[in-house]
Amino acid sequence: MINIIHTKSGMQDEVARWREAGLSVALVPTMGSLHEGHLSLVQQAALRADKVVVSIYVNPSQFGENEDFDKYPRTLDDDVQKLAQTGQCHAVYAPSSMYDDQHSTMIVPAGAADGLESLTRPHFFTGVATIVLKLFQHVPAHSAIFGEKDFQQLSVVRQMARNLDLQIDIIGAATVRDTHGLALSSRNHYLSADQLSIAPQLYQQLCIIAQRVRQGDIQELVIADARRALQNAGFDEVDYLEICDAVTLKPVQNNLQTPIRILGAARLGATRLIDNIALDETDALA
Ligand code: PAF
Repeated sequence: MINIIHTKSGMQDEVARWREAGLSVALVPTMGSLHEGHLSLVQQAALRADKVVVSIYVNPSQFGENEDFDKYPRTLDDDVQKLAQTGQCHAVYAPSSMYDDQHSTMIVPAGAADGLESLTRPHFFTGVATIVLKLFQHVPAHSAIFGEKDFQQLSVVRQMARNLDLQIDIIGAATVRDTHGLALSSRNHYLSADQLSIAPQLYQQLCIIAQRVRQGDIQELVIADARRALQNAGFDEVDYLEICDAVTLKPVQNNLQTPIRILGAARLGATRLIDNIALDETDALA
């Protein structure tokens, strides 16, 4: 039986009891609508900690005015059932609200938060950093696991933990993909059958970019070709395709010595997909 906790004090007390007993604790922050990708984060958490807490909270402050906050899937009972089946989750933290009426302090990250997602979602990382810091206060775990699927988010959280001396290890976990290469995401539910058949192209183009950059092709041309390929495949808009330093997330030009991450975001109708791979990731070109 998973303990479902709705209050800050209830959650803090539970973690305090575990810590007093000498047990290690890992947090998996989520917005619910759990899929295999989330369950793999739970698996990672269970490998490194005695107790695993999954938080489920759809955080209003990371959604823009015209985004999908209202229609974001809320499936707590289902989620708890899936977590129970893993046998690896000890508590679900499901607060009804994380902000009181007087809330007026936000974390505004720069550095890794600049560019990429922030170009089209300028509010996003302020909302994410603020809620993640609050979750760390409510669930004072030894480590927290974030998916690499949201690589810029992972980088922003790592940067915040470093910059603000947070006493928590931030762990990145590999993206889980479907058999066609599409990164699992709660927003994939929004895609029609047609759109679902186009969506894996984003990953495939990231793999092609990686392959061509590795063989020394000119980056601007490689990106322009990938952008065109996505548009021809049926994507309505390509927000960005960028080759970045994997730590700072600044665009790299000719220096391929540092670890490199290739990141992309593109829209299919009203749904926005994001994905990324490491430059040296072996690709899965079908
Ligand atoms: O990745 C998510 O689901 C969310 O951005 C997070 C980290 C749970 C913060 O609301």
